Amino acid sequence: MTDKKFYLTTPIFYPNAKLHLGHAYTTTISDILVRYHRLQGEKTYFLTGSDENTQKVVQAAKAAGVTPTEFLDGIIRNFKTLFYSPNISYDQFIRTSDEEAHWPGAVLLWKKLVEAGDIYKKEYEGLYCVGHEAFITEKDLVDGKCPDHGSAPEKIQEENYFFKLSRHTQAIKEKIESGELQIIPDTRRNEILSLLSQGLEDVSFSRPRTDSSVGIPVPGDDSQVMYVWCDALSNYITALGYGRDDALYKEFWPVNLHVIGKDILRFHAAIWPGVLLSAGLPLPKALLVHGFITSGGKKMSKTLGNVIDPEELLAEYGTDAVRYYLARHISPFEDGDITRESFKDVYNADLANGLGNLTARILQLAQTHLEKPVAVEMTPAPKKFSDAMDRFEIHKALEYIWSRISALDHKITETAPFKLVKTDPEKGKAIITELVHELAAIDLLLEPILPETSKKIIEAIVANKKPETLFTRKQ
Ligand code: MSP
Repeated sequence: MTDKKFYLTTPIFYPNAKLHLGHAYTTTISDILVRYHRLQGEKTYFLTGSDENTQKVVQAAKAAGVTPTEFLDGIIRNFKTLFYSPNISYDQFIRTSDEEAHWPGAVLLWKKLVEAGDIYKKEYEGLYCVGHEAFITEKDLVDGKCPDHGSAPEKIQEENYFFKLSRHTQAIKEKIESGELQIIPDTRRNEILSLLSQGLEDVSFSRPRTDSSVGIPVPGDDSQVMYVWCDALSNYITALGYGRDDALYKEFWPVNLHVIGKDILRFHAAIWPGVLLSAGLPLPKALLVHGFITSGGKKMSKTLGNVIDPEELLAEYGTDAVRYYLARHISPFEDGDITRESFKDVYNADLANGLGNLTARILQLAQTHLEKPVAVEMTPAPKKFSDAMDRFEIHKALEYIWSRISALDHKITETAPFKLVKTDPEKGKAIITELVHELAAIDLLLEPILPETSKKIIEAIVANKKPETLFTRKQ
């Protein structure tokens, strides 16, 4: 046991539609990292949740002909059953519509910004993109439309509260440059540093309340609600009880790692640190910024017909197969691609023929030739593996595991224990025992990545019995 702690957060997801594979990527790599730290004996805390105070939800509910609350309850059930339980081992699922858990902390944070003199009111005119939940500029548009969402932004003129982000530019820059706030990978760090060197502008932090408004009223001014990003970012501390019962906050803040996608870098690496500095709170230690998942080299879209539904993949191949593909074949630092064909090929090659076949071969030999189970012990993770995991290079950690899997395969072919047991039983059995030991060592490394499979393998080793087929080959 160590007294180290590891607090990790995912972004909170917009619940205006079901989750897609991109979201599954964020939660999967997050879960792998948390499980890895938990296995080192660290005290971990894993937060995920949903970003509910948004016009997107109001619009989606309207289209479905239900109230926002009814709509949300249905979607959240989908979130939880699909991704989060049981294999995404989160400790808390925060919903920002939760007036008891989330709102007091968001209100307290706002008040701290007011006390710091960083909130002011201003007449504002701009182009608002509901898809982004943000104001965008004329130069972002293509043919008058937001290129990411394909819709024209609304021209809005209104009075808003603003946060004096500009004032904190230099301090944020220093924290990033000194490495106090780490941004991984370097490409994203450079991207944000170049933005900071141009100077940050103040940001809109509230919207006027309308009949369809959802969200937290601005303290002292009921005519305004907090802008979605201001209310959303604070979830990382309200979930720990900031503003109500802060035992968890004291234990786990500052967070060790915020896992985010590249599209929300600016919010996390500029606005969030600015808010925390203004409120006098410690900054996150690190941000891991991953890329986007594409299919056939293109952004997944309904019109292109290349959307891959995670529900379908999970039903057809199982949780561990989906975890494996995402963790091994998509780098956490760049965009990555998946198609149904690439998924099937990888599944057959690496899981059915690779790990599955190897386990079956070894445990068939053990079951037939060894009188009792091999006593396996915990072996410390090799440096190559732990270095990769510590650098968040999950894909490299997996490459390493699979190199040991193929080395073990070769060892069986070279030593041919199935023949040897007939001519020299003692030597044959000794080799089979070695094979089981190596399989157990590999299995231990797999635990945070493929938790179900890893459990099946170790149980089979302990029972000295070939397990049911781990991964059935797909045609
Ligand atoms: N609600 C905000 C986050 C607030 S955090 C205080 C949000 N939600 S989201 O549902 O749109 O996106 C959640 C995460 O999914 C983001 O990290 C985003 O980058 C990620 N992804 C969305 N599409 C993705 C892919 N196609 N590929 C990989 N991740 C992607 O933004």
